[in-house]
Amino acid sequence: MQLTQPKFQSFTAVAPSNIALLKYWGKRDAKTQWPANDSISMTLSKCKTITTATPSSANFDTFIFDGQSITSETHPDHKIFRHIDRVRKACGSSGYITASSKNTFPSDCGIASSASGFAALTLASVAAFLKTPKWDELSTQGFNRERLAHLARMGSGSAARSLWGGFVKWSAGASATEQQIEQIWPAEHWELADVIVVLSSEPKSMKSSDAHHAAWASPLYTPRLAALPERLSRINRALAEQSFESLGLEIEQEALDMHAVCMTGSPQIQYLTKASLDFLVWLRTERRFGRLPAWATIDAGPNIHLICLKQDCDTVAKAVQRSGFDCSVIVDQIGRGPSIAEGSGELWND
Ligand code: PMV
Repeated sequence: MQLTQPKFQSFTAVAPSNIALLKYWGKRDAKTQWPANDSISMTLSKCKTITTATPSSANFDTFIFDGQSITSETHPDHKIFRHIDRVRKACGSSGYITASSKNTFPSDCGIASSASGFAALTLASVAAFLKTPKWDELSTQGFNRERLAHLARMGSGSAARSLWGGFVKWSAGASATEQQIEQIWPAEHWELADVIVVLSSEPKSMKSSDAHHAAWASPLYTPRLAALPERLSRINRALAEQSFESLGLEIEQEALDMHAVCMTGSPQIQYLTKASLDFLVWLRTERRFGRLPAWATIDAGPNIHLICLKQDCDTVAKAVQRSGFDCSVIVDQIGRGPSIAEGSGELWND
């Protein structure tokens, strides 16, 4: 017996967030999403976005986030709809979709929800427009993983790196068209963990997508860009050799370097709060006395990602819980990348 496909077949993408070890901060060109520097990230496992896209009979797109719905009719300039439109054109489709999305973690507070969000939206909508969730069939239709990553970065730069598991590099290249996105190590290479210290789950003061342009006015930005190639090779070496101390030292300096640029740009952007700074002081003291084998990195928000060896993540999480800071803790670890399947997101409820 031959099964007929339902007319409005849904596709669900589950895309992980990623934490940048070497930050993408600043663009050479906003229109082509050409970053000012190369970046490297670690893909996470538990922090993810689940997005279901279903072809729609309406002549507009609908986006539902955590039960709240908006449409391209009422919000034509919303970046979600601009992205769906970009994907539709890339797929050569004229249809509309309803995309329904949720995160397994707090949004917009420096846990890279735009990375997992735009990665999941890209994958679910490409699958819905091309009517297949299979990577090999998407590839035959011109959408291999790198092409999908390039499409995702047009929604949010960091989303490009959520297309693979493990450690991923986004190279700026000599021109906007020479950008490259690739996995540099699979997750099995080095089982690191990310103990995320959520000091505030309030939306951050300025979304990172709106903040990149402020970097160029900082007197610290040109020296930062000049020093990054050497930092990149040191991070690459630390990853290759699984040298935890060397990696930790680099990523903590890197995060503070990015935040120094934020604080000295125009407009001045203050993501680090008093709680973030107090926490950093505590972390450094604990580490100096050999009580906390973890190093901090911080994205565009006040929350602190403590990178540690997987075997140490319980020790680190317990130490944070006992520290007296008013925070919640998410214990995540390196992940294996996104997936796409037929059907609705109910299948992936945790
Ligand atoms: O992808 P965007 O535009 O939200 O920028 C991300 C910026 C950082 O998260 C701070 C760094 C990074 O490389 O992910």
